[in-house]
Amino acid sequence: MSAFIVLGAQWGDEGKGKMTDYLAEEADVVVRFQGGNNAGHTVEVGDKQYKLHLIPSGILYDDKLNVIGNGVVVDPKALFEEIGYLEKEGVKVTPEKLIISDRAHLIMPYHKILDKLKEEARGKNDIGTTGKGIGPCYTDKIERCGIRICDLMHEDVFEEKLRENVAMKNSYITKVYGGEALDVEKVLMDFKEYARKIKPFVKDTSVQVYDGIKANKTVLFEGAQGMLLDIDHGTYPYVTSSNTTAGGVSNGVGIGPNLITSAVGIAKAYTTRVGKGPFPTELNDETGEWIREKGHEYGVTTGRSRRCGWLDLVIVKSATRVSGLTSLAVTKIDTLAGLEKIKVCVGYKFNDEVLDYFPASLDDLAKCEPIYEEFDGWDESVADARSYDNLPENAKKYLRRIAEFTETKISIVSVGPKRDQTIRIDEL
Ligand code: GDP
Ligand code: IMO
Ligand code: MG
Repeated sequence: MSAFIVLGAQWGDEGKGKMTDYLAEEADVVVRFQGGNNAGHTVEVGDKQYKLHLIPSGILYDDKLNVIGNGVVVDPKALFEEIGYLEKEGVKVTPEKLIISDRAHLIMPYHKILDKLKEEARGKNDIGTTGKGIGPCYTDKIERCGIRICDLMHEDVFEEKLRENVAMKNSYITKVYGGEALDVEKVLMDFKEYARKIKPFVKDTSVQVYDGIKANKTVLFEGAQGMLLDIDHGTYPYVTSSNTTAGGVSNGVGIGPNLITSAVGIAKAYTTRVGKGPFPTELNDETGEWIREKGHEYGVTTGRSRRCGWLDLVIVKSATRVSGLTSLAVTKIDTLAGLEKIKVCVGYKFNDEVLDYFPASLDDLAKCEPIYEEFDGWDESVADARSYDNLPENAKKYLRRIAEFTETKISIVSVGPKRDQTIRIDEL
């Protein structure tokens, strides 16, 4: 029995999609446990590139069960658009391959409207959300007025909840934000169609995942976002609205934490962030620009350019602590190839102290000064390496320092976006 987690160890976009696809080969079941279609996971197989948002990255295999757990927020419009996209690309999405939790909350049209209106109202203090309705949907879940997929399966229940919610939200949209009211009849009609289409996929996924683990199946939990976007442990309020760390798995799937055997943290060889918020090692210079272009650092979901900076090991170390990471997968070391010198942050100078953890207060964080170590760079040959021994010595030195500082072994090194551009070093 094995049930392991793939998590982002930074601010998202670390290469979770690629690593999930690579590791899914060893798995029977791939499960999303939080977030929604704010995620953008890229998988490259052969000469094809797939962009996934809501559907687990195991869908590209024909023989894996993919699960959207109860902790995920589901926009049915986005779901069927993604299914349509995949089918067009020749990937089958059937109820045998994909199941969706009846407890998952629905992202409703008013959530998307409110996401945008709230961001506009925040003005210069906006979070820089993806605009997919994630925050407002999780708000309703906690407020206890959300609508779940099981409600959608009961026409009368759904209609009552929808009318109540639309009345409330319309008054909020129009009176507080001066927006345009939603037509409840139109929403009702659209959702009747979604109910019909989603029904074959709907299951109690907690039971299915639990039974799978008990039957000795290998289960992979695919995280979205990353450590510092976690609602509790991230750079609040510049975070997403779910627990992106390992603790989110148990609640977001409905299985006991004792069933989870390992957790691999995906860390890019440098750091990126989309959206607003602090970023101590950000490079607002030519090097940052060089990394963005070489690493194609543009958002999969929104197309926004990603902010780039040096690898911050304080962040990765925090991720190992918070999620109990058993190993790290380091991605995109090929992107750094060609730089003469590479810096790595190994602490923050804060007043007279040196911190090796991320402070809670953003005011304190603003006073932190990164402490850097400098490494000699490596050449492009790294992208062709298929074993650890083939990596340039300077790249190995860099990797050894990451493992040493975070006190966590590196199990995988990724040297390119494709499935086969992956070097397995150790067990997860
Ligand atoms: P995710 O959200 O964590 O799944 O990551 P994204 O897909 O948003 O962004 C990662 C990007 O880097 C994608 O375009 C991947 O195809 C690409 N990628 C992943 N691993 C590597 C790697 O080792 N080298 C290079 N050059 N690209 C990679
Ligand atoms: P993957 O899974 C990077 C960021 C947004 C914004 C903040 C809140 O591809 O790594 P939200 O729409 O969730 O309320 O936005 O979180 N964000 C991501 N950044 N990768 C992601 O997902 C992200 N999902 C959300 O940019 O700063
Ligand atoms: Mg992404």
